[in-house]
Amino acid sequence: MHFLILAASLLLSASGGHASSVTDQFVGKGRVLVLNSDNLEKAKPSDKVGCLNAKGDVVTLDQCAVFTRNETWPHELYSSAGTCTFRDTTTVQNLASVYGKGSYAFSCSDVGDSVLKSAMWAGEPYYTVDGFNFPFVCTGNLNCYYEIERVPTSDKDSLPVWEYFWGSQQMSVTPGHLQVMWLWDPVKDTSGVGGPKGSQRRSVAFRG
Ligand SMILES: *[C@@H]1O[C@H](CO)[C@@H](O)[C@H](O)[C@H]1NC(C)=O
Repeated sequence: MHFLILAASLLLSASGGHASSVTDQFVGKGRVLVLNSDNLEKAKPSDKVGCLNAKGDVVTLDQCAVFTRNETWPHELYSSAGTCTFRDTTTVQNLASVYGKGSYAFSCSDVGDSVLKSAMWAGEPYYTVDGFNFPFVCTGNLNCYYEIERVPTSDKDSLPVWEYFWGSQQMSVTPGHLQVMWLWDPVKDTSGVGGPKGSQRRSVAFRG
């Protein structure tokens, strides 16, 4: 798996040559924006339709939580609620999906850390790939797409997000669901500076 990621990364960076690489941006703290797109080449920040809250659910854009990407391998994500994972079997399964049955919603909680430590394979890496136009968040074996039931429309909406699976019996997203991508929106860490909670965190990257 590491080889595949590395190979893809080298391949894409060879054709790129960007001033500030997306891998340099996917560090520290940031918001995870949910983009309504199924196209790694065309997706852009203005495709955003929601973002992740501290529990790892998809919510409206005014409720985004700040996540941290662990500096060390496997670079898991965590929020104020705890370590995040797709492997907490107490969360909602994607039962409507042919291939996503048995996959669980992303969730960040105080059991996340132990779920990952007891997993049969090492960690749950979150990474982006040099050559992408923006720091889209991928996990596993180049899985850079995710799936949601619908776009959150009210502040009460708190919706599950799953990894995106397809195959010969379901060639694209689960009927009725939406294929989405995650975009890392870096947040400057100015904790320690005065001011009301929330105002200390300023989004530096993507407006519009
Ligand atoms: C960050 O990674 C280190 C090293 O793998 C690990 O010990 C630590 O628990 C991680 N932190 C979080 C919050 O997941």
